[in-house]
Amino acid sequence: MRRIIIAGNWKMNKTIEESVSFGLCIKKMFYGKPEVILFPPFTAIKALSDALYDSDVGVGAQNMHFESTGAFTGEISPVMVKNAGANYVLIGHSERRHIFGEDDELINKKMIAAAGSELTPILCVGETFYERQNNLTEEVIERQIKVGLSEINYSKNVIIAYEPVWAIGTGANATPEQASKVHQFIREIISSMYGVGSGDEITVLYGGSVKPENIEELAKMEDIDGGLVGGASLRCDTFVLMWKKLKSVKIC
Ligand code: 13P
Repeated sequence: MRRIIIAGNWKMNKTIEESVSFGLCIKKMFYGKPEVILFPPFTAIKALSDALYDSDVGVGAQNMHFESTGAFTGEISPVMVKNAGANYVLIGHSERRHIFGEDDELINKKMIAAAGSELTPILCVGETFYERQNNLTEEVIERQIKVGLSEINYSKNVIIAYEPVWAIGTGANATPEQASKVHQFIREIISSMYGVGSGDEITVLYGGSVKPENIEELAKMEDIDGGLVGGASLRCDTFVLMWKKLKSVKIC
């Protein structure tokens, strides 16, 4: 079933105390739908999920390794993020792909591990500026989804985030029409992989310079189910404002 979600990816920001303080703030202001999911750094997952224990706000990890245990210095396993209180995990974020060299095959291993660990994965896909300029957007998105989801039995649990690399952290979001076109294409690929209608059931979020000024126009597009927000998710008042705007377009 499609969900309406606003998610905050804090990237490498916020200490434990800052994360808890945000959690307590959002808990006071957030009620009902759209759903909220926060992705703090690993170090704050436990404290944030404890602070949010009696709320509907979800907590997730920004990354994980695909093995459960072993000699992988510096890595965190699915079991560990689950144990710390996360129920979600971002897989294949553009910064993981482009700064840390994660490829589609590695991302697929992580997707399989997430599916086997009762974590809801958000598979992040998106083309670079060069790829868009050279009309490669659809080819890239199709490959990232087909390889990323390979050997994953269709699970309505999987969420996809379309985050064009050129729009991340640049202030230049994709236009609602550009984003919507790719979201429709993602739904077509899902339907081609998992059967007619499945593309209409999967939740597809847009990410890349989402802010209070543009969330409503993006959310007005039928194929956009919400946002995965970076920079503008770091302040509680701004995040709550975006949540209210998403609610006004999608819920009532
Ligand atoms: P910005 O909202 O800062 O562009 O980041 C988007 C993002 O990477 C969310 O995962």
